[in-house]
Amino acid sequence: MVAKIDKISRSTKKYYEKILKLHGNNFKGMNWSSSKSQYLRFEQLCKIGNLNNKSIHDLGCGNGELYVYLKKNKIKLKHYLGTDLSSDMINLCKKKFHLKKKVCFKEIDIKKFKNIYKTDYVMASGIFNIKNNISSKDWLKYVFNTIIEMFKYSKKGIAFNLMTFDTTYRDKNFFYLSIDEIVSFLRKKVSKKIIINHSYNLWEYTIIVYK
Ligand SMILES: C[S@@+](CC[C@H](N)C(=O)[O-])C[C@H]1O[C@@H](n2cnc3c(N)ncnc32)[C@H](O)[C@@H]1O
Repeated sequence: MVAKIDKISRSTKKYYEKILKLHGNNFKGMNWSSSKSQYLRFEQLCKIGNLNNKSIHDLGCGNGELYVYLKKNKIKLKHYLGTDLSSDMINLCKKKFHLKKKVCFKEIDIKKFKNIYKTDYVMASGIFNIKNNISSKDWLKYVFNTIIEMFKYSKKGIAFNLMTFDTTYRDKNFFYLSIDEIVSFLRKKVSKKIIINHSYNLWEYTIIVYK
């Protein structure tokens, strides 16, 4: 699986760095169609709990806009850690934000997760959507492995989004997962304390899993 994860990391990094170069430091550069949808996703992830005085790890932080969203909503975190496998994204964040003890950005990918400290919550928005030329079977394994790692490095729980199976249009580069499949995996390998939110108007749903 390590060789496959290397391939996935390389292809994902290449894809997002190309998008960032094309569109720059904004929602388009994060591959989103609008800042409204980007913020709607954040809103769903943040339903995980009261984030005041909590530490969070924003996995696949991109340009760190989740941190901006939290500040706009006057949420006072204990600590924010943004990680991304793209050095371009992390360099951008380091320039964009005044780094304090409370805010930290690191270039990291899943294989190096062992160098990462635990936070109350680990969140990820949009990291599982684009598989490009990776087979669905390998991408699924990667998604499951990543979720297990996220859970391991959280103290209280995790939140992430996935594209819904219930679409009229399919793109071969996108990854869709049925709720049945994710729930069955989570219940067997992660935790039975699961919340699924498919109530908002995007082609996706948010999953929250607690310890
Ligand atoms: C769709 S963008 C979303 C960025 C940000 N989360 C947001 O919602 O604005 C996905 C980001 O996740 C990063 N990413 C994807 N897979 C990752 C992984 N396994 N580990 C770390 N970063 C990852 C990409 O480099 C990219 O910056």
